[in-house]
Amino acid sequence: MTAPLLEVRDLSKAFGNVVTANNLNLSLTAGVLTSIIGPNGAGKSTLINILTGFIPPDSGRIIFQSQDITYEPIYRRVRLGLCRSFQVVNVFTGLTLFENISIPILAAHRRANGLFSTVSGEKAVREEAHRILQRIGLQEQGDLPASALSHGDQRVLEVGIALAARPKLLFLDEPTAGMNPVERIKILENIRQLSQEGEVTFVIVEHDMDIVFSLSERVIVLHRGDVIGDGPPEQIKADPHVREVYLGEEVVA
Ligand SMILES: Nc1ncnc2c1ncn2[C@@H]1O[C@H](COP(=O)(O)OP(=O)(O)O)[C@@H](O)[C@H]1O
Ligand SMILES: [Mg+2]
Repeated sequence: MTAPLLEVRDLSKAFGNVVTANNLNLSLTAGVLTSIIGPNGAGKSTLINILTGFIPPDSGRIIFQSQDITYEPIYRRVRLGLCRSFQVVNVFTGLTLFENISIPILAAHRRANGLFSTVSGEKAVREEAHRILQRIGLQEQGDLPASALSHGDQRVLEVGIALAARPKLLFLDEPTAGMNPVERIKILENIRQLSQEGEVTFVIVEHDMDIVFSLSERVIVLHRGDVIGDGPPEQIKADPHVREVYLGEEVVA
């Protein structure tokens, strides 16, 4: 059996008496497109913040590719391939798409090859930026400022920026927030395709249940810091406890 990509062991976090992680145990498998769902305030964003190093847990361990990263700073996690996007848009609107994507690529090249200076290095960065623009379907707009994009395409660009850091595991916190239905379908199809390419394992927080159930291979349901459901979409859809506390349906015993 292969080791999990990420393992969470007995993870706890509370803000005062608001418990966002209650002795959580989870393991994420490489290549499995996973959604985390749960009511507002369930602790989804906090969990992503803890796993990616933005806030420390109260207790518990986080193991990424067999390495304990519980107290590693964000940049070390990014280097290892553990990355995230935010619930609000986070692009440089005054820079072109190409420039937005080149920044993290340059950073990755510096890490790999020392100070970046050679002409061949520059060519490699350009090629990689173009490849990513292509993968996210924005190759035609590469020379436009990000401000020229629709909100939906700015969010797609964010996924591209995240990909430029060469993640192995990428958390997307509500990538469809503020999008219209057409934009939603477009970005999620894009994520599905990127997931199938196999380089990156995606974990998504998403509200639209139709999307969650059609896109995900695995659904994790958080409620007040507890995992109350975890399995393939059909199983979660049919789970009486999940339906009761989250999908808001009366369950007739
Ligand atoms: N930095 C913080 N300080 C105090 N309370 C917080 C902080 N971050 C989150 N919370 C609280 O933790 C709970 C879970 O928040 P969050 O993880 O953002 O939920 P979700 O993303 O599932 O909607 C909420 O009640 C929120 O108010
Ligand atoms: Mg949130």
